[in-house]
Amino acid sequence: MEQTFIMIKPDGVKRGLIGDIVLRFERKGFTLIDAKLMLVSKEMAEKHYSDLKEKPFFGELVEFISANPVFAMVWEGNDAVKQSRALIGATNPVDAEIGSIRGDFATDVASNIIHGSDSIVSADREINLFFRRKASFAS
Ligand code: RTP
Ligand code: MG
Repeated sequence: MEQTFIMIKPDGVKRGLIGDIVLRFERKGFTLIDAKLMLVSKEMAEKHYSDLKEKPFFGELVEFISANPVFAMVWEGNDAVKQSRALIGATNPVDAEIGSIRGDFATDVASNIIHGSDSIVSADREINLFFRRKASFAS
């Protein structure tokens, strides 16, 4: 079984979308392994998005993620990384299909509600960063 790291960003938490989003992952058939409401430090946000540090929006992204609480989760299931990205939809909500989370709940790329790991390697790294343990699929 594969695990992935999913994080409802501060805009999603503020708008009261935790329940809706958890319901979608449960209905899809994934299993919730761990979850917590937490504040992300600037250092942690920088680590989490380190692959984007050369992008012009990196500073704003780090400020945004660390300004208010996020809801961090680990979900498990068949092909969980790829299928979660499908549930989430395209990065820019303008391109996200209606029926996906970003397609249904967001209009702007800078506040697109939710993060999902983009590969098994990223999932392993992010689960370890946020929950201080390795994902079980690594064995
Ligand atoms: P995420 O990591 O948050 O799940 O998003 P993603 O894989 O779909 O997209 P990624 O390329 O990793 O970008 C991370 C986040 O940076 C913000 N972004 N802003 N202003 C912009 O043009 C821009 N482009 C990306 C988005 O919030 C995106 O989710
Ligand atoms: Mg990404």
